[in-house]
Amino acid sequence: STTDKRTCNIILVGMMGAGKTTVGKLLAKQLGKTFIDSDEEIQRRTGVTIPHIFDVEGEAGFRVRESGVIQELLKQDDIVLATGGGAILSAQNRPLMKQNGVVVYLKSSVHDLWQRTRHDHNRPLLQTSNPRAKLQELHDQRDPLYTETADIIIHTGKQSVQILLERLQHKL
Ligand code: S3P
Repeated sequence: STTDKRTCNIILVGMMGAGKTTVGKLLAKQLGKTFIDSDEEIQRRTGVTIPHIFDVEGEAGFRVRESGVIQELLKQDDIVLATGGGAILSAQNRPLMKQNGVVVYLKSSVHDLWQRTRHDHNRPLLQTSNPRAKLQELHDQRDPLYTETADIIIHTGKQSVQILLERLQHKL
């Protein structure tokens, strides 16, 4: 149950621009847990950027690295893990996350996601001629997977991060 897992790991999933890193850092601080971001961990280990990995190895190569890192990170206890937006795509990651923590889906409208990602060039999947449409497409494909994997769904919107954290802590 959620209660048994509350002292252990919290795993944040959701689209790019949902606020996983921002929320994760603050949540970890409030709960006295260690914050880890899977993208940062991949960059630290490889010494290159995420866009560079996409360039050289493609999305498929990146997903293999991402799954490996998540699998390893979840051997620890007491972490708040912010995952990359596509982490739920690998079928093995979904049960792994469910078994090793409370999975929180930060759910945002495509409108809000677009506002938060439109000026950001570090997201290789949005380097297309119509990034807004791509974001919508990714959201529509992934929303069922985030929902199926999550123990808790938190809708993000216009409210402050502090209010969002209070709502999340209440549900943990
Ligand atoms: C991706 C999201 C990114 C990063 C990579 C792929 C995705 O992470 O892992 O660019 O497939 O949605 P964020 O969700 O932290 O932006």
